[in-house]
Amino acid sequence: MLSFHIETVGCQMNALDSELVAAALLREGFLCVDSPKKADIVLFNTCSIRQHAEDKIYSALGRLKFAKQHNPNKIIGVIGCMAQKDNQEIFRRASHVDLVVGPGQIALIPELIHRIQRGEGPQIELSLDRKAHSRHEVESSFESYDPLREAQARHNPYLSYVRAMFGCNQFCSYCIVPLVRGPERSREAEEILAESALLVEQGCREITLIGQTVSKYQDPSSGARLSGLLERMNDLAERTSLERIRFVTSHPNSMTPDLLQAVRDLPFVMPYFHIPAQSGSNAQLKKMNRGYTIEKYREALAQIRETVPGASITSDFIVGFCGETEEDFDATMRLVEESRFKNSYIFKFSPREGTKAFELYEDDVPEEVKRRRNNDLLALQNRISEEDSATFLGKNVEILVEGESKSARKIAHTADSDGLISLESLAPSTIQLTGRTPCDRIVVFDGAPNLVGTMQNIRITKTSAFTLFGEVL
Ligand code: SAH
Ligand code: SF4
Ligand code: F3S
Repeated sequence: MLSFHIETVGCQMNALDSELVAAALLREGFLCVDSPKKADIVLFNTCSIRQHAEDKIYSALGRLKFAKQHNPNKIIGVIGCMAQKDNQEIFRRASHVDLVVGPGQIALIPELIHRIQRGEGPQIELSLDRKAHSRHEVESSFESYDPLREAQARHNPYLSYVRAMFGCNQFCSYCIVPLVRGPERSREAEEILAESALLVEQGCREITLIGQTVSKYQDPSSGARLSGLLERMNDLAERTSLERIRFVTSHPNSMTPDLLQAVRDLPFVMPYFHIPAQSGSNAQLKKMNRGYTIEKYREALAQIRETVPGASITSDFIVGFCGETEEDFDATMRLVEESRFKNSYIFKFSPREGTKAFELYEDDVPEEVKRRRNNDLLALQNRISEEDSATFLGKNVEILVEGESKSARKIAHTADSDGLISLESLAPSTIQLTGRTPCDRIVVFDGAPNLVGTMQNIRITKTSAFTLFGEVL
């Protein structure tokens, strides 16, 4: 029996795509293994959002060159966004790669692997251009949930992503996503609901609807907006063991009253918004082609806080984008200071060939300035996150227990590799577990392994910037 291993980087889209590919390969009778060394087929599901993400993949590919020489039958594939972007270049830079498949063609992977096994040589399947998101492509991507996908093939049997939208039409000037993921398209609400119902039957208790601009969702059949979809998802939760519904990522321009009211009124929809601001400076936002001013962004935050008090909000920022002055950066610092985000993901600008910014503007902020701004913004956000977390001390929160905490797993692993007794072999009656609050704060506590997948009330006894610690009530 042939075995496969998938290494995944990038966003939720890639995490979901990898699960779908894994499910398809399992169905073909392949065996899933946890290391690229042991696997007959190694797939890298790649990301092109920043240069660093690509460099990591090329060096991982380089490390497999020897393994391929040693075992010429090993199949090495590059799939996802970087496959779409770099195309034939991948074969030039890593001649031992057998398979290059774009995100719109991943459903073809099992067939392409069979062709390689039959000796038909390297295989490549990509979208021809953004416009030609043809029937062929739609059919060759996984449109809907694979009913044969087992809970075990997912990253967590109790949590699942469900795609609400494909692609992006926003064309922020720095961003590669519209070029590699194709045009924006909402899925039929019927399909989303049918897929969600199946996942719930299989034990899933939290569903996150995903899309690059999910707040712009519109059902192609009924014209219903995201608020309408959330209402129907909430009905599903009323009838089943589905406990939580989330959605990411929102765009500041589509935080309409109906959406905010839906989050306020629907008990199973969690009060959490991820709304990237990217910058606090109007000049920068304009160059980024974000389509809003900082005044409009502030207004969106104010509306959320008024309509859904207690909701948590997270954001993304790019520092050192083309032409960013100290004044522009100060404006970003001020925005973070006043907005009280639960957390912000902060990135140093990385120029992407093919984007408008690459064509029009110079990447003129020196690396050390980018690094300093990155650190300054991070330090400010950390202080705010810490203060915010501290308000939870002594409070009770409801969480869905997701599994063993990662740090605990790490300890167990180190103990193993050092030849010490592994924590697992001690068969402990309590382990360190983790889950999240409705507003998406991570909670770590000690509990019995059988609590995984259940809802629990936890009293918070200690806090840090990004984690709350507590005990089961
Ligand atoms: N669709 C989402 C984000 C997708 S990409 C949105 O519009 O908000 C995730 C984040 O990566 C972006 O929010 C942005 O902060 C960052 N990013 C995108 N392109 C980048 C680039 N060229 N350099 C650095 N960061 C980038
Ligand atoms: Fe990229 Fe902008 Fe689309 Fe987000 S909205 S994926 S940042 S182009
Ligand atoms: Fe990366 Fe593609 Fe997502 S470029 S961020 S994996 S859509």
